[in-house]
Amino acid sequence: MDQYVVFGNPITQSKSPFIHTLFARQTAQDMVYHAEQPDRDGFTVAADRFFAQGGRGCNITAPFKEEAFQYAQQLTERARLAGAVNTLKKLDDGVILGDNTDGEGLVQDLLQHQVPLKGKRILLVGAGGAARGVILPLLAQQPAEVVVANRTEAKAQQLAALFSSYGTIASQAIDELDGLTFDIIINSTSAGLSGQLPSLPHSLISSQVTCYDMVYSTQTTTFNQWAKDLGAHRTLDGLGMLVGQAAESFMLWRGLRPSAKQVQRELRLQLQ
Ligand code: ATR
Repeated sequence: MDQYVVFGNPITQSKSPFIHTLFARQTAQDMVYHAEQPDRDGFTVAADRFFAQGGRGCNITAPFKEEAFQYAQQLTERARLAGAVNTLKKLDDGVILGDNTDGEGLVQDLLQHQVPLKGKRILLVGAGGAARGVILPLLAQQPAEVVVANRTEAKAQQLAALFSSYGTIASQAIDELDGLTFDIIINSTSAGLSGQLPSLPHSLISSQVTCYDMVYSTQTTTFNQWAKDLGAHRTLDGLGMLVGQAAESFMLWRGLRPSAKQVQRELRLQLQ
């Protein structure tokens, strides 16, 4: 039976074994997927052991995504630009391929929720690893513009420069966003994890705008609650992105696209 694993520390909270087990059942794949928690300095040893024992592929979550990027012997373009790897696959010739499916997971979730991206103006709030991981797939959808805004402005400028040859992308100081309009606002900051909000002007929120928080929780996230209270057209959280990135990894490993919708429904029920 083909072996897959997710590496993270901590890992007990991971939904990946649940998601991939459902995907495997759905598509009748002979595979098992489990979770493993290497020590903080133990990723390489754990990955070496896993592949030496015949493992076919793995997911990587915090804090090992940059190490997995170094570990990969070959990278997809989206992983190279993300600077981080969330999926490894042992190719038929033994080479370990590194990919990053987070951004495509976000894009697929937006599209599945009938949020078109082509020709739209997208505000990406935050300029950390989570933001960097989604920019290339967003630009590939040919939005009118992606604008990156971050508390530390220099980091937003650096990201916009890094991706400038891949589409229309700019950075904007957070305190100069007042009066600008966007169709979609994506929160990639970790502010909500401590109950905080990035300090965005209220004028960004209208009955036309869709807000997407890349994190998810049992309740409405802090950012989405803020957007709802101000009358946003729609708010979505990152549960769909989680399932979407898993579906992309599964696709890379097995060559089959599982249905994300059903799994998302089951996961949402499990959260309640
Ligand atoms: P991740 O990999 O989750 O993106 P990260 O690389 O540490 O984590 O980036 C965290 C992001 O959240 C950054 O954009 C950070 O802003 P700074 O670059 O200014 O630090 C943003 N962030 C975290 N807490 C925030 C807060 N309270 N308000 C606004 N932005 C915040």
